[in-house]
Amino acid sequence: MNLYIFLLILGAVTCISAQGVYKQRFLEQYNKMHNPSNGYFSSKGIPYHAVETLVVESSDYGHETTSEAHSYYIWLESMYGGITNDFSKFNEAWEIMEKYIIPVHASQPNTNLYNASHPSGYGPGGNVPEDYPIGPVTPPAPVGVDPLYQELVDTYGTSDIYAMHWLTDVDNVYGFGNSPGNCQLGPDEPGPSFINTYQRGPRENAFKTIPQPTCDNFKYGGKLGFGDLFSAGDHSPNWKYSVAPDADARAIQAAFWASRWATASGQLSQITDTLAKASKLGDYIRYSFFDKYFKRIGNCIDPYKCPGGTGKDDSAHYLLGWFFGWGGSIATEYGYSWRISEGVAHFGYQNPMAAYALINEPNMTPKSPTAVEDWKKSLDRQLELYEYLQSVEGAFAGGVNNNWNDRYEEPPAELKENTFHGMWYDWEPVAYNPPSNQWFGMQPWSTDRLAQYYYVTGDEKVKSILDKWVAWIIKETTVTETGYQMPSTLDWEGTPPNVHCKIRYYGNGVGPAAATARTLSYYAARSNNQEAKNLAKNLLDTMWNNYKDDLGVAVEEQPDYSFNETVYVPDGWTGMYPNGDVIDSSATFVGIRSFYKKDPQWYKIENYLNGGPAPKFTYHRFWDQTDVALAMGTYGLLFDE
Ligand SMILES: *[C@@H]1O[C@H](CO)[C@@H](O)[C@H](O)[C@H]1NC(C)=O
Ligand SMILES: *[C@@H]1O[C@H](CO)[C@@H](O)[C@H](O)[C@H]1NC(C)=O
Repeated sequence: MNLYIFLLILGAVTCISAQGVYKQRFLEQYNKMHNPSNGYFSSKGIPYHAVETLVVESSDYGHETTSEAHSYYIWLESMYGGITNDFSKFNEAWEIMEKYIIPVHASQPNTNLYNASHPSGYGPGGNVPEDYPIGPVTPPAPVGVDPLYQELVDTYGTSDIYAMHWLTDVDNVYGFGNSPGNCQLGPDEPGPSFINTYQRGPRENAFKTIPQPTCDNFKYGGKLGFGDLFSAGDHSPNWKYSVAPDADARAIQAAFWASRWATASGQLSQITDTLAKASKLGDYIRYSFFDKYFKRIGNCIDPYKCPGGTGKDDSAHYLLGWFFGWGGSIATEYGYSWRISEGVAHFGYQNPMAAYALINEPNMTPKSPTAVEDWKKSLDRQLELYEYLQSVEGAFAGGVNNNWNDRYEEPPAELKENTFHGMWYDWEPVAYNPPSNQWFGMQPWSTDRLAQYYYVTGDEKVKSILDKWVAWIIKETTVTETGYQMPSTLDWEGTPPNVHCKIRYYGNGVGPAAATARTLSYYAARSNNQEAKNLAKNLLDTMWNNYKDDLGVAVEEQPDYSFNETVYVPDGWTGMYPNGDVIDSSATFVGIRSFYKKDPQWYKIENYLNGGPAPKFTYHRFWDQTDVALAMGTYGLLFDE
């Protein structure tokens, strides 16, 4: 061999090994997601929930997007920076998120009319859609004060909230035209359009929802827009947003890694503006730390007897609650604005990595004077929650609840024995249809963050929590040449400290497997546990070798679809969508979404409704595909293989 060719070969080999197999896979997956002909992004660069349009899960259409998808997009670009040293894409992903899913000033009028001594009136939640009407009670029940408002106004000079609304209609298929800064401009407006779906309590599933605009000036829907479909009381033109704070926390966690990687490669100055925005988001998502009506945390039974809190000491649980929301009137005359938090927390939403970042990472310290102190309390409380909820088997049981049945009811007696700061164990926090802790994916989504936290801090207490979880997942996972099987649907029995996890079904979904591989990788990298590392590698290799396709890495699934399900509409109520779809008591899921009948995959549903077999789909969800990319990249970065 002549020397020149030898050097060329040597050069090529060095180049590959410098990058490593797993970082290469990250880049291959990343490039597929960014290939415009693969359809992951809208023309404005907004990540869709999925490439495919016919998808109903928590969002009801594949080309909607969620705060979740935006947070995954930010994380994808953070790691792209970690692997290539180009952090411009990370900045860009944050800008897209800020521009298209955080409500701008003009989209949240009258927040200055908010009364922090009376955040909102108490109204009982519905347990089933048919619990109608629900709404404010008379006489009014006590609510607590909002201890964050004045501090945030003082810090940022505005009464607006900086947080992601959870859902947008990226291409404006519903036609509300609720684009940033506008209210109901109609079907001709390009997307994204801010919408909401869930409105009627925890037993409502996606197939029972009635999508509605976040800004409702009564142009569509019934005589009073959509508001009186869900609650009684006075209605005037209004707006409202709902935050799923696990997504916001995920964006902060992604920013933390961008900060670490950019620091290591001398690029920190490229991203300091974005890191400041991440810390600002951290300042605001403290709104998820409270009881829904800022009432007392602990033994809060009976809306009239449980008092309002007087400040953080009595009304904060310091966990990432399932939700927070804010809204107000459109008109300024007799204008108003309100805020609610969430007295129910799911372990799956907790993010000790984000908390750690906001406490410790230079350039990510929130500006409000009490924010770091609050996040320190939150970090401790989150870690305590994992311990409290860990089952005998090792998996984590649902969460804790301060507001039983969304009506401050008396919980079952057995839950009153071993409480969590006076809150009760809840195996299916907030959502019952399907129960929020049946889906296995919540486990590795959350343990991944816990493992990152352990990787960064070496906290021995967290290691022992992870030891148990890792032993469980190693025992419950089977990998062969042609695929893997891991838990997919979980059942729960008993109460803490004796909760048991039973596995109802096993499956091979790629996102949960990838998140599991990340958990195992971070855990193994700090603890030198070879078995965990091997399983991570086997999962990654097996999905790559067996489940790769043109768009990413995916497996076929058979979702439980009920497109002809009747949607509850009160007798006599009628209204209309911008496209003319009628909402009345004979409405069905697809009846109020006639655009689905033009979907390229509609024939499968039609065939099923005509008595054919249950349809199968191969979906490319943004989060699933990002989970795969991140798991490959993580393994590559940690082990340099
Ligand atoms: C704010 O709420 C408190 C407590 O309900 C009430 O006493 C006060 O009058 C309200 N302030 C305004 C300006 O409405
Ligand atoms: C809806 O479709 C399912 C599945 O094909 C069928 O069993 C059911 O009878 C249909 N219901 C209505 C109201 O059409």
